Amino acid sequence: MPAPIALVPLPRSVVWTADDPFVIGDGGAVLVAADQADFGALAATRLTEATGRPFTVGGRGPSVEFRLVEGGAAESSTVSIAADGVLVEASDPAGLWHGLATLRQVVRQAGPEVPAGRIEDAPRFGWRGLSVDIARHFFGPAELRLVVDLMAEHKLNVLHLHLSDDQGWRIDLPGRPELAARSGATAVDGDPGGFLTADDYRELIDYAALRGIRVVPEVDVPGHVNAALHAVPELTPDGAGVDVYTGIEVGFSKLAADLPATEPFLRDVFGDLAAMTPGEYLHIGGDEVHTMEPAEYARLVAMAAAAVRDAGKQVVGWQEIATTPLEPGTVVQFWDPREDVTPFVTAARAGAKLLMSPGSRAYLDMQYHEGFPLGLHWAGYVSLRDAYDWEPTTLIAGLPEDAVIGVEAAVWTETLRTLDELTTMLLPRLAAVAEVAWTSAEARGWEDFAARVAAQGDDWRARGIAFHPADGAQW
Ligand code: ACM
Repeated sequence: MPAPIALVPLPRSVVWTADDPFVIGDGGAVLVAADQADFGALAATRLTEATGRPFTVGGRGPSVEFRLVEGGAAESSTVSIAADGVLVEASDPAGLWHGLATLRQVVRQAGPEVPAGRIEDAPRFGWRGLSVDIARHFFGPAELRLVVDLMAEHKLNVLHLHLSDDQGWRIDLPGRPELAARSGATAVDGDPGGFLTADDYRELIDYAALRGIRVVPEVDVPGHVNAALHAVPELTPDGAGVDVYTGIEVGFSKLAADLPATEPFLRDVFGDLAAMTPGEYLHIGGDEVHTMEPAEYARLVAMAAAAVRDAGKQVVGWQEIATTPLEPGTVVQFWDPREDVTPFVTAARAGAKLLMSPGSRAYLDMQYHEGFPLGLHWAGYVSLRDAYDWEPTTLIAGLPEDAVIGVEAAVWTETLRTLDELTTMLLPRLAAVAEVAWTSAEARGWEDFAARVAAQGDDWRARGIAFHPADGAQW
């Protein structure tokens, strides 16, 4: 029996039955194992918000039980809805979160009588990310928590934070306090800056982890470093440092491989970031160094990568690093489809992994259409359909079959100052990219997605979250 419930991203299997519904009535009880108490409290809060009825951990009334079970695929979940209760089974804590995210969408749309049924789910790709530029304009802990919520509701699992660029340095590192102290306050156009303290960063990591999301921090080198050069004059050849930069050009700033201060800087920065980050990856940037010889670029990428590996982490870098020798397992993030793809194929054949963020599909700061009041269009206009209708494994011809490990959206903030502006660019396209990352290619279809995504718009509207009613869906 079909039920008018539109789930995004589309799960593997959704079966509704004509059995009696689960009736929420005056609220309900959340049941979790003793070692899942934090998750249980979160689930109760989310279900209370979603239903408007009180859910409490271990409380009275119809129950929603979350249970870890052996044997399923990573991040998989099954949500079984029956008159006598809801059971969410998952193979791991992330799967519990995803089951809750599914149930949340169901109860938001169903109201107090939730149809009986069973939803089985598991992701296509293990890396489903969003890169957020908090360097051009700063978005702080409260704003990032909302971004994490939106990601988690779409079953994304990697928050990539672009923490440094020409215009500002956004994380306070214990070994290099001058970076945030001297370059934390600036931003594009002279707008207010800011930075994450070590406590802010740890709290954000914990907040994200409870929602199945890990944080991958990026310090962009050897280009996009004006803020670092401003804070650490020894990184410039004449030792005089540079002025602050608040424009939006790219490609002009750079580290210098021969300066004695450069390698200690890289070791301190990536060493501190590694110590502050439980996840296994650090991102070294590597993009758009327009005024450097290839040999010096390769030396600096190798220096940064060695600093990351020596600190016990794996390396991620933007696609340009594929032109340098890479260790197997390095993650190369594809972003500029205008470039020759030969280096990516060569790197993948040598063991690199590809993360797909094509600007013309997954860059959510691109304008939706000509004349859109926010965003840029150097990679083209990205309609909702553009963000949805693409296949990550065939973008680069000749890649080994298992080279693509995932999909990541990105939002750059040269033109975005406020949370409303940020979410207007993210939504609804983040839902589209999330489905590309989550749902199998065979199960996806634009018309079907366009019909489903409008229900998410009702949810965003009810919560006061700004979004763009993009062409293609009935909002
Ligand atoms: C990039 O967009 N420069 C990675």
